[in-house]
This record gives sequence, C-alpha cells and structure tokens, in this order.
Amino acid sequence: MAERQTIIILDFGGQYTQLIARRVRENHVYSEVAPWNLSVEEIRRRGPAGIILSGGPSSVNDPDAPHIDPAVYALGVPVLGICYGMQLTAHLLGGQVEKAKEREYGRVTVRMREQSGLMNGMQAASACWMSHTWQVSACPPGFHPTASTGNCPIAAMADEEKRIYGVQFHPEVTHTDEGKLLLRNFLYEICGCTGDWTMDAFAETAIRQIQKEVGETGTVLLALSGGVDSSVAAALIYRAIGKRLTCVFVDHGLLRKGESGQVCHVFSHLFPVRFIRADAADQFFADLKGVTEPEEKRRIIGRDFIQVFRKEASKLGKMDYFAQGTIYPDVIESGQGTNAAVIKSHHNVGGLPKELGFTELIEPLRMLFKDEVRSLGEALGLPRELVWRQPFPGPGLAIRVIGEVTPEKVRIVQESDAIFREEMAKAGLEQKVSQYFTVLTGVHSVGVMGDERTYDYTVALRAVTTDDFMTADWARLPYGLIATVSARIVNEVPRASRVVLDVTTKPPASIEWE
Ligand code: XMP
Repeated sequence: MAERQTIIILDFGGQYTQLIARRVRENHVYSEVAPWNLSVEEIRRRGPAGIILSGGPSSVNDPDAPHIDPAVYALGVPVLGICYGMQLTAHLLGGQVEKAKEREYGRVTVRMREQSGLMNGMQAASACWMSHTWQVSACPPGFHPTASTGNCPIAAMADEEKRIYGVQFHPEVTHTDEGKLLLRNFLYEICGCTGDWTMDAFAETAIRQIQKEVGETGTVLLALSGGVDSSVAAALIYRAIGKRLTCVFVDHGLLRKGESGQVCHVFSHLFPVRFIRADAADQFFADLKGVTEPEEKRRIIGRDFIQVFRKEASKLGKMDYFAQGTIYPDVIESGQGTNAAVIKSHHNVGGLPKELGFTELIEPLRMLFKDEVRSLGEALGLPRELVWRQPFPGPGLAIRVIGEVTPEKVRIVQESDAIFREEMAKAGLEQKVSQYFTVLTGVHSVGVMGDERTYDYTVALRAVTTDDFMTADWARLPYGLIATVSARIVNEVPRASRVVLDVTTKPPASIEWE
C-alpha cells in the first residue's frame, strides 16, 4: 500500500492534466501524474486509492491512439475518466464512441440524471466546460448515462457496482460550476479518501527521507538563489541535517531591493546553515558593460554564475550531495513522470551538478506544486515575504533594464520597484495581482524639475493577472494607486522623470520586457 492515499492520474496529453492533479491535492489527497502507459503491475504496486484518466487530443478509434490495458478496470480501484478518459473507457469496455454532430466547446448546460454517487449534492442542471469532437454514443454493458447536454446525450456515465465513472466535461476547470464538488465526491465518497495530504505531514516524511538518504555524516551543497524554491529546499534540508548543509549564494547585484540582505539574514539566523555569500556584483557589471542584446545578457549572467559558484564550491572540499529546488511542474513537463531524477534547466543550476562532479542529487520538492512549496515554506517557519515572493527571472533585474545594464540603472529599477511593491501592499493587492514590477525603458524624455530642464529616464509599470504565466492580462489597478506610485517614483528616485503604464496582454507581448 502507498504510504499515503494516492490518486494516480494517467496522462493522455490533455492540457488540463496538471490542473487535475492540483485540484485533487487541494482536496488534501495526494496525486501523481503518470504516463498513460504505466504498467498495471506498477499501478498495483503503488496501491492507489483511485485512478483518473485525463483528457487528451487523440480519438479512441484511431489505430495509433493511446489505449490502456483493460486490466486497469479490473484492479478493484475506482476509475474516473475525463473527456478522452471517458471515451477510452467506453471504447475498451464495449461501448461506442462516435464523432459528435456538432463540436461542443465552451460553457454548456449539463443536466444531471441523478444526484447521487459522483453527482451527490449537485444541482439538476449546471454549467460545465466542454471541449470535444468525439463522444460516447452507447454506454458499455453495466453502465448507464448519468448526465446529458443538448448535443451530447451521454455527457456522463457510471457503473456504480464496479465504481467506474466517466464525464465528458471537465470538472477540474473553474468554468465548471460544480466541478469541485464532483471531484470531492469521487475522492471522498467513492475512493474513500480521508484527506491525509497536509504540509506538516509532508515535511515530517521528507525530513526523515533526507536523513535516511544522506546518512549520519553526509554533506549537502545547495545553490541558493533567494527565490522561493531554493529557499524552501534549504530550510527543509536544514531541518533534516543542520549544518551539514552548505548554501552558496551568488549575489550578482541584480536582485530586488533588500532581497540579498534578507536571504543572508534568514540563512544565518533563522536557519543557520553553513552559508557562503559570494559578492560578485562587480564581475557581473563588468562583464555586462556595453551589452544591450537580451539573450547575450542572459548568456553572460548564466556563464558568470557558474564561474563564481564553481570557484566557491572548489574551496569547500568534498561534498556528498548536490541539492536543488526542482518542483513538480518541472518534473511533469520534462516528460519523466515521477520515476527519474530531473535536473531543472534553470540558468543558474542547469548542468552544474555534473560539472562539479556530483552524481547524487537531492530534490526534496520534486513532488510539490508551487502553492504547496509556499505552504511548506510557511509550515517550516520561513518569513511570509520570502515565501510569497513573486516569480522572478533567473537573470534578475538585468532583463528589466532595457539596453546596457549599469549599477545606476539597476538602482533606479530597485528603488522604483520597491515603491510599487510598498503601495501594492498598502492597497491590499499584493496577492490579488499575479506579478508586478517596474522596468527601466530605454527612453529618455524631457522634463522640468524646479526651474531646470531635465532629460532623464522613463520607468514603466507592469502588472499582470494570470493563472499560468503562459497568457496574461494587464491588471486594472485603481487610478489612485497608479497616481501615488507615479508621484512617489518621480519624487523619490533620482533620474526617473516619467512613469508610464504597460497595458498589453500576453500574447502578443510577454510579461517581461527584456
Ligand atoms: P515572459 O516574459 O516570458 O515571462 O512572459 C513568463 C514568466 O516567466 C518569468 N521568467 C523567468 N523565470 N527564469 C525564471 O525562473 C528566467 O530566466 C525567466 N524569464 C522570465 C517571468 O518573470 C514571468 O513570470
């Protein structure tokens, strides 16, 4: 049996697979995404409480379509097929799947034929998110339809005796009004889960695992960037092995205002690891001199980072393990499911362990989603400002300075950004807007200050709302807030004389300016 109740999600390449995993975990039930062809023996070995078959782009009637071994349905474990997962279930168990007369896409009213089992407590009709071309036209023996839409007579089906279910709509997306309830019914009523996935429980198990892996005397080296992931990884490993953890923090002088000091404080006082800060700002600025092309900036920063890190690591003597803050989306996106070790291709650690001669990697966060990493950080006692830090590009503020990067320009970004953050916090918008920052545009403009003509920098405000950072909308910030931020920047930040607001969505723009 699994150490904790686990839902295995077999992935057929659907765009919402990760979202299904997150929704399950939000219900305090642990879930793992696995490739659709995970063997029946392996599924049995993992002892899941339930199995979810994801959506996917294929059509079950296509000879090349991914088909699971029908023995999965005979494991005695409840199965929920979503979209393609439902069609596959129908196809494999003797039902029929046909092309729908009309492709259904978007929010559609679904009528529930029953309000028990999977649909327990749901309304007779509710809005659901549909996105399909194929649909089940005849249920397999033992199944009966449990929901329908105008165009799709079998929008859900069930074999209650065998505890096998299918839904054509997507309960995992927020556009499905009662999706949360449906998933909860599956987890708690049908699979018998009790909600044993909590961050405190995870921390305890993870600490024990690290202790077991590293042994009584093993040492660990970690590259601390100051971001959420590496900081939480460091805190967790510190709890497991104390000062046998050494953190090397390469300070490139391109972090936000106050962050470098905070990282030093947290890892010298709250989590007193063996902490090495390499102050390399001069080297980074020297190497960035005259460089204006964004990719070139990234390349130089990546290269310098590795150089500095290697130099520091070589002074430390032999370390047994290299630790990094790889998180679950990196693992899933690399297509490696949950079995193999993955090295995050982040600019500052990609390839480093190998170059430094490490064969042993410790990645204690590799099963966690970002929001879970934050909860873990809080459970471990890291400061809130650190745990709730916004996403931040590896190359730091260098990509928020358009054109050549100089210490003065970085200071303008740091100061203006600090003002923007302060005012967002005062307005209570810190966690309502996904990401916000200032950019030093390459534009100079004429102004007057006192009686003097000025010719100084233009600062842009960028604030976006997004779920996944792949697409984003510009945040509709209150005018009063924008006015205060603008006035403070031009008054308090020397050489910033104009403030503009970026009102572009992604696509076509990106979030960063670079
Ligand atoms: P763009 O500008 O591509 O940014 O719309 C999407 C998100 O990614 C962040 N970003 C990075 N994160 N290393 C990172 O870890 C990087 O090199 C990097 N570049 C951009 C960006 O801040 C936004 O949240």
